Amino acid sequence: MHLPSIEPYKIKTVESIQMSTPEQRKKWIKEASYNLFKLNSDQVIVDLITDSGTGAMSDKQWAEVMLGDESYAGSRSFMKLENTVKELTGFRYFIPVHQGRAAENVLFSALVKNGDFVPGNIHFDTTKGHIEYRKATAIDCTIDEAFDITIDHPFKGNIDLHKLEKTLQEYTTEKIPFVLMTITCNSAGGQPVSIENMRAVRTLCDQYGVGFYIDGARFAENAYFIKKREKEFANYSIKEIVKEIFSLSDGMTMSAKKDGLVNMGGFIALNDAKVYEVCSTFAIMYEGFVTYGGMSGRDMGALAQGLTEGVEFDYLESRIGQTAYLGKRLDEFNIPVIKPFGGHAVYIDASKFVPKIPKEEYRAQSLAIELYIVAGIRGVEIGTLLADRDPVTRENRFPKLEMVRLAIPRRVYTLSHMEYVAVAIKKVFDSRDEAKSGYSIKWEAPIMRHFTVELEKI
Ligand code: F0G
Repeated sequence: MHLPSIEPYKIKTVESIQMSTPEQRKKWIKEASYNLFKLNSDQVIVDLITDSGTGAMSDKQWAEVMLGDESYAGSRSFMKLENTVKELTGFRYFIPVHQGRAAENVLFSALVKNGDFVPGNIHFDTTKGHIEYRKATAIDCTIDEAFDITIDHPFKGNIDLHKLEKTLQEYTTEKIPFVLMTITCNSAGGQPVSIENMRAVRTLCDQYGVGFYIDGARFAENAYFIKKREKEFANYSIKEIVKEIFSLSDGMTMSAKKDGLVNMGGFIALNDAKVYEVCSTFAIMYEGFVTYGGMSGRDMGALAQGLTEGVEFDYLESRIGQTAYLGKRLDEFNIPVIKPFGGHAVYIDASKFVPKIPKEEYRAQSLAIELYIVAGIRGVEIGTLLADRDPVTRENRFPKLEMVRLAIPRRVYTLSHMEYVAVAIKKVFDSRDEAKSGYSIKWEAPIMRHFTVELEKI
């Protein structure tokens, strides 16, 4: 008989949750113009809006907060973090920044020019934003399987080597500063990339003489999937897999708010002395001196400790297991969820859930609002609102998938919270036939509208 697996930690501090009723939430969401981003956190019972910066720190991380050295230059906390990152990734150079998009800003300032192309698997929004801001183009070379939610593929984040080679041939390599691989691939549903794929991408990059960088926001979760799904690595430790991953690339950007297990932070790590030099200058301009880069000493200490805990197998097993538990429960209730389940989130297919709501009335958003009203759960729409309007025609862009993402903060909720979420969604699912109409836009910003949009009930 197998013993059930448990969270490899016990709880030392708790934060109370403000409970509320459906009537209260109905009023609050109306006051928030039916935009979940406009709710106060106290109006939410289980907050699954993001896994970014929402995790719980350990006692050892809090101890690091007390040990923080706040010297402007050369602090002990910086050195602790630098040593940890170098030891974990094997990169020669390290620059701290305040979060992931800041790493993109600094690295891309050094490497991406007007007219360039940056191929990769689906680039995260801010990554794409920082590429396009420099009048360059992000080219999506993800495998087709990633876009078919009925296919069960172990590495849906993989880059399609034919698409990549075609891109490398089509645009001269002077116009391709590097290939960027996001692990796990957030925009594909937190789906991992295999080492086999990384090796093949490395080979192509060498053949065509272009760089290879990794967006490592969820690198540890990706390493866990490699251990579980890629035979060659079944007996490797997570740390060994992480080393292998980064040894294949020239450098990385990191949003430490995810697998770094901290609430704020990020970094760049790389091998090329010249690129490091140029990045250092931009880092000083945008982030701060190279030994703090927008982070306080205490935060750097907590991140060093967080990175160490984030690659522990038992932690990852419980973390990914929690996501899979929620996915499995929803699946048992026949709720349409995207499979395989990703590392950090479960995605509900809103088009199958509420097919009677016209897509012009923001199906996924309507479902996210209903979930909030019924149970106080805050997910996020990954659908038409997020896809925004066509910049030329100003018409709504209807994406292939209308989804509600339930992203799970690290070490914050227990399995009983997941059970609550699953049963609440089942409750909404049981009354789905009553949902026939959605919402219309009262006001929207010209770009990135989903954060501030104001809606009206139809
Ligand atoms: N890269 C990936 C893959 C991300 O998921 C994110 C953020 C970033 C870069 C940017 O990092 O927020 O620290 O500036 N993702 C969050 C999310 C916001 O909710 O998925 P950041």
